[in-house]
Amino acid sequence: MKVAVIGNGGREHTIAWKIAQSSNVEEVICIPGNGGTALENKCRNVEVQNSDYAGAAKANGCTLAVVGPENPLSEGAADALWAAGIPVIGPKKAGAQLEASKDLAKAFMKKYGVACAKSETFTDEKSALEYVEQQGAPIVIKADGLAAGKGVVVALTLDEAKQAVKDLMEGSAVGDAGKKIVIEEYLRGVEISVLAAVSVTPEYAKEGKAAIASFLSARDHKRLLDGAKGPNTGGMGAICPVDDFTEDLKKKFYEEIEFPTLRGLVEEGYDYRGFIFFGIMLTKDGPKALEYNVRLGDPETQAVLPMMDFDFVEMCQAIIDGNLKNFDFKWKSGYQVAPVAVSGGYPKAYKKGMTISEDKAKVEETGAKIFIAGAVAESESGKTVLKTSGGRVLACSAHGSTFDEAWKKSYAALEAVSFEGMFYRKDIGLPGAAESN
Ligand code: AMP
Ligand code: GLY
Repeated sequence: MKVAVIGNGGREHTIAWKIAQSSNVEEVICIPGNGGTALENKCRNVEVQNSDYAGAAKANGCTLAVVGPENPLSEGAADALWAAGIPVIGPKKAGAQLEASKDLAKAFMKKYGVACAKSETFTDEKSALEYVEQQGAPIVIKADGLAAGKGVVVALTLDEAKQAVKDLMEGSAVGDAGKKIVIEEYLRGVEISVLAAVSVTPEYAKEGKAAIASFLSARDHKRLLDGAKGPNTGGMGAICPVDDFTEDLKKKFYEEIEFPTLRGLVEEGYDYRGFIFFGIMLTKDGPKALEYNVRLGDPETQAVLPMMDFDFVEMCQAIIDGNLKNFDFKWKSGYQVAPVAVSGGYPKAYKKGMTISEDKAKVEETGAKIFIAGAVAESESGKTVLKTSGGRVLACSAHGSTFDEAWKKSYAALEAVSFEGMFYRKDIGLPGAAESN
């Protein structure tokens, strides 16, 4: 079979790489893919016109599609793929609003009793400012709509909070995404990411087949600098699994977050066959949901998928067919560590077009896999070279039977890669590296 993977980041390179390992897969069509997928075994990049992913998948004979990012999902890419007769991993537009609207997500969490921070939604600046004044700082201000990671301000002082309300609501910070805002109680704790497979349709709900199955836990590191300092980024590295997610916390997570979410997906009547990502704060009162994403995390995927000891396409088929309950998830033991290398200057302006060089023998020695995020493959004097094209350029993901072993291998691989201006955190997964309040 041919499988379409939609998106062009590190997450999509990882998904394509994992899908290519399935013996049933003849070709992975990456729409549009990147320099990593251009060079990956069994993978081929295909351009897309006017976001017509369904057209591109159909023209290339795909019989399954996996949508990586949230934007196409919230715009109805899954609906279009289904309508074109292609089964798809990724919720239809209605379910995708759980990420596209923070207000909707919070209303959903409250309705179904999902453990989360207390919050109120505002469309009027004056009432929002009054509420902030009344609640005091620290407090969290969130734009309702998708804002590519720029829509959340964790305000430590009242002044910062008021400024954030103004910036978001007066349209300068994130445009229309900030016309409505959610103001949320500040939670103290440390964050983790739990990604899960979801198989929910109204029919599966009736037949008792609706299911959710979480993967091994992961942790992203969003701040640019060691010790969780500096500006927020799209993610500087991930680890899997996370030791501080204890059995007791997992049980609470299941009872207070995961199961009520499944119930909500069922009761809302969604056709949600895909992935859900729970952003979780581990507080002293147990795990609390910070957000839903309707897709896998990036760069969590680069750490979680290599830990999968099962066929990804078989899992996708179980999701599509309503057999997720019976799917046998097997995981490797040990750990995966995946630090990310970024372009110098990121998350502000950075140069593009830097040639990436790699000491292949050294990387091979570590057993690490390099997942490309922001780089394109170009032909230069008869050879194919990778040139940087984005802020986050690549991740080196390595496995070890201990955390220490995985950590050393991933960093040894990263040190064998270079491009002008390359920058990375040196503490991914180490004590003090995680975001915490
Ligand atoms: P979100 O996009 O909602 O996950 O928010 C982005 C980041 O802001 C999270 O990863 C947290 O680091 C932080 N954050 C969000 N909500 C809260 C909260 N209620 N309390 C403390 N920090 C938060
Ligand atoms: N790693 C966070 C995200 O994918 O949104």
